[in-house]
Amino acid sequence: MKDLFKKNRVYIAICFIIIIATVLVTSLLVNIMERKTETKYSNQNRVEVTENDTDPKKWGINWPKQYDSYKRTVQATQTKFGGHGGSESLPAEKIERDPWLKRMFLGYAFSIDYRDRRGHAYMLTDQENTKRLTKPQSGSCLHCHATVMPLYKKLGNGDAMKGMEVSHKSSYQELNKKLHEMGHANPVSCVDCHEPGTMKLRVTRPGFIKGITTLASSNTPLPHLPSIERWRKGTKNNPYDPNTDASQTEMRSFVCGQCHVEYYCGGKLPLVFPWGNGLKVEEVETFFNELKFPDGTDFFDYTHAQTTAKLLKAQHPEFELWSQGIHAKSGVACADCHMPYMRDGATKVSDHWVRSPLLNINRACQTCHHFSEDEIKARVENIQEKNYKLMQRAAQALMDLIDAIEQAKIAGATDEQLKTALAMHRKAQWRLDFIAAENSMGFHAPQEAARILGEAVDFARQGQLLAVQWKSR
Ligand code: HEC
Ligand code: HEC
Ligand code: HEC
Ligand code: HEC
Ligand code: HEC
Repeated sequence: MKDLFKKNRVYIAICFIIIIATVLVTSLLVNIMERKTETKYSNQNRVEVTENDTDPKKWGINWPKQYDSYKRTVQATQTKFGGHGGSESLPAEKIERDPWLKRMFLGYAFSIDYRDRRGHAYMLTDQENTKRLTKPQSGSCLHCHATVMPLYKKLGNGDAMKGMEVSHKSSYQELNKKLHEMGHANPVSCVDCHEPGTMKLRVTRPGFIKGITTLASSNTPLPHLPSIERWRKGTKNNPYDPNTDASQTEMRSFVCGQCHVEYYCGGKLPLVFPWGNGLKVEEVETFFNELKFPDGTDFFDYTHAQTTAKLLKAQHPEFELWSQGIHAKSGVACADCHMPYMRDGATKVSDHWVRSPLLNINRACQTCHHFSEDEIKARVENIQEKNYKLMQRAAQALMDLIDAIEQAKIAGATDEQLKTALAMHRKAQWRLDFIAAENSMGFHAPQEAARILGEAVDFARQGQLLAVQWKSR
């Protein structure tokens, strides 16, 4: 009996030690996790921020690390194809570097002034100063260039979506003046991507919310957006809502998709993200081909000054092209490459200095790709060089098409006789522009970019042939 007790005492002691050890380890883990979430999301300095705090300075008191990196977007950056050329004060003119751009935009404000993009800090002032504003532009422009949500709410009597839907009726200048008067003339700010109380990632832009909702309602396959595929299999009682349905990984791209997308933003219709048939170049083209102006006429962006073709203008479809690439399919988000984590003692901070990842290969790529920096850079530049060369070929083909239509017109061809050639102008240029206006020089989806440029060459040459042979038609 005594022996048994002695034996048990050892067991009891061991059990006791295990229990204590478990409690200690668990509490340590809980403590670490708590501290992590604390530093990640809580406002340590407890300055209350609200929906109306569009000035990032106040948020910076609570989250100084993120604010410090955010402020660095004022710095000029340049890589072989990214960032900007020109001077510190004014980025280089794309239309002078590539004169074919200027020619394809003849008849449209982009042939007056179209420059390299630069850091987020400049988005509002660059918009205010562009010579494109010498032509009438609509209030819709502000959607992606300022902390515009309080203004939208005011215009829509509390409903931001309604506000956005009337904002195209005001001129740019009129709405920009209101924005300044309300004290919300800032570039994209914390409140645009974060919920004030919780710092939860969110999307605010009505254009994106409407666009992604219609995209979800279409039946185009979206393997890189699993939350949409899941929603489609559900009851569909409520429309797809990115802020409640999307995963954190998806949100890390959606916040950028609020602006880095193709859109229509003139004065005739509310701002629209053309995603009703899908995100691919020809799906967006179909959307525009089916779109009508309020007076029932066919949609187009402008009439080309030399050929009179009714054209579409593409703008920065980063979200769309990324969607077709291997990274999107592998769950790699915009923020993984453009806002990689930085170590800050025991915690990780997302780098809010949004810029080219090639300036930051170590944190942006080497977390997943275990090659040397030089090797990674060489692979990217190899993709970009090929894309660049193919793009120049497509541009040459388009210039030849425009020449041929001009010649045919001089020789007496009518628009009716040139109808198919003009349709080819629209198709070829739409594809070339889609890749030229996209800002990764093909990197976001190399094979897709090559496919699109290949089609551009083909349509341009078909159109050229038709224009040369117009008499036989
Ligand atoms: C796998 C990494 C990766 C992902 C994911 C990614 N990008 Fe990029 N992005 C790049 C690289 C590489 C470049 C080319 C940079 C250069 O040429 O300097 C680039 C270029 C850009 C540029 C032009 C940068 C400049 O300095 O001019 C923009 C804008 C951009 N990406 C936005 C996005 C958006 C928006 C998303 C998500 C929809 C996204 N990217 C997803 C790697 C990525
Ligand atoms: C859907 C979002 C969105 C809307 C609407 C929008 N922009 Fe932008 N804009 C961007 C993004 C993203 C960039 C950076 C990428 C680039 O330059 O391609 C940019 C870049 C620019 C630039 C700097 C580069 C350049 O093109 O010279 C100017 C100026 C500009 N926009 C003016 C305007 C004007 C004027 C309007 C209204 C007609 C407008 N934007 C509407 C998203 C938008
Ligand atoms: C509210 C609209 C908006 C949002 C949201 C937004 N951007 Fe931008 N972004 C712009 C505009 C506009 C510019 C061009 C500013 C200029 O040229 O003055 C730009 C420029 C850039 C550049 C070029 C920087 C450089 O130094 O050349 C990169 C890269 C970029 N954005 C990536 C992103 C990524 C990644 C996200 C999401 C985390 C994002 N952007 C979210 C509007 C936006
Ligand atoms: C264009 C969108 C965008 C803007 C603007 C923005 N953020 Fe973020 N922020 C992000 C993304 C993306 C993450 C990563 C979130 C994640 O995956 O958990 C993030 C993460 C954070 C986090 C969580 C900790 C971390 O670093 O990962 C804090 C805190 C934060 N941001 C603060 C700010 C502050 C302060 C500002 C304004 C100065 C700001 N953010 C502006 C997109 C944005
Ligand atoms: C979160 C992980 C992750 C990050 C960050 C990441 N990649 Fe990738 N990358 C992948 C995956 C996954 C693939 C798919 C192929 C594979 O499985 O290796 C891939 C493929 C590639 C390819 C082959 C592309 C193709 O179209 O065939 C290149 C080039 C590449 N990555 C470059 C980069 C560069 C440059 C960066 C940084 C700007 C980067 N990656 C950041 C995960 C990542």
